[in-house]
Amino acid sequence: MARHEYPELNLPARVLLSTGPTNVHPRVYKAMQTPVIGYAEAAFFPVIDGISSMLAEVFQTRESRTMALSATGSAGVEAGLASLLEPGDTAVIGSYGFFCERMAETARRLGANVVTVKGEWARPLDPQALADELKKHKSVKLVAMVHAETSTGISQPLEDASRMAKEHDALFLVDAVTSLGGSEIAVDRWGIDYISSGSQKCLSCPPGLAPLALSPKALNAMNGRSSPPATFYMDLSLIANYWGGDRAYHHTPPTSSLYALYEGLRIVLEEGLEPRFARHRRNAAALRAGLEALGLTVISHKDHRLPQITPVAIPDGVDDARVRARLAADYGIEISRGLGQFAGKIWRIGLMGEASAAGNLLLFLSALEEILPQEGFEAPAGAGVAAASKALATP
Ligand SMILES: Cc1ncc(COP(=O)(O)O)c(C=O)c1O
Repeated sequence: MARHEYPELNLPARVLLSTGPTNVHPRVYKAMQTPVIGYAEAAFFPVIDGISSMLAEVFQTRESRTMALSATGSAGVEAGLASLLEPGDTAVIGSYGFFCERMAETARRLGANVVTVKGEWARPLDPQALADELKKHKSVKLVAMVHAETSTGISQPLEDASRMAKEHDALFLVDAVTSLGGSEIAVDRWGIDYISSGSQKCLSCPPGLAPLALSPKALNAMNGRSSPPATFYMDLSLIANYWGGDRAYHHTPPTSSLYALYEGLRIVLEEGLEPRFARHRRNAAALRAGLEALGLTVISHKDHRLPQITPVAIPDGVDDARVRARLAADYGIEISRGLGQFAGKIWRIGLMGEASAAGNLLLFLSALEEILPQEGFEAPAGAGVAAASKALATP
């Protein structure tokens, strides 16, 4: 029998300025070396309880149940939709980017009657468009929005949509994959019934967990369904039983990922929510100043920019893939390409969690200053780093 040799893993270290995953905090890696023990052992429960109460702080909720689904960000959204919607229910979904469209497609596949309210990409959705659509329907089960549209770099205000959902006695569901831990989310104050995120963005953990919060109204809706959801694994009423008091077995949770999330959340709370959000805002503003000084255009609406993701137009004649490959090969920097209608037209630069650091954005700008002129775009040497440094030095 042929014997195969497999080399030891030896992947390059990267500065992850992509849309995720982002750099994992060293303390999180260390926590992942904690011995794996059984999920039904009393010694493990403080991990579960700690994650749940730290998530309540980060989601700013006293009313909702908080937990983490053993799956990525997409599954967090899908679990919410699958657990709340029954076939034939009407879901009204804001559509202003790639992840909004995916959410609508997910709900469609679950058999819901999906109505999308279309907005322009890289602009927030006009609440009036949502109000006009809602008026057309007698019964709406759920209104859903993406808080941080990673594909366009837009931060979508949520309070108007939440109020309108309540006026129609509908549940309000939010995708916060890119926002949790990087910008404010106030679940109780904003009246959110279901919200989910991902471990790999502003929480600086590896991918694989979807932190979430479920309001009492959402739990009631799950318990009052006429039939159980088609998915067993992502039935949140069953998962809530493990995270709640009785620790009922549902599946074997990914122990080491939960250790990671526990430590990641400790780091978020040690820094403090407002200082952490301010750091994300400050670094994003410096990055924008640098990019604009190089003659590049940030395409997201100026009043609704996401601090986590900066979408920038690729200058005419510059090869998208070649610039990204050079950033990785010569500087060890990853950035992301455009998605959907922005594919080939923009780069998306992430500054999330640990990766949102002055040193990272200055390195990136100086790399662009070297690469862009060689790729046919005349960027004034030193201007990007100078503008960003000035912005960083401005209180
Ligand atoms: C806004 C948004 N929603 C959902 C997802 C999907 O998350 P995941 O790739 O972890 O499944 C992403 C991932 O980038 C995202 O940015």
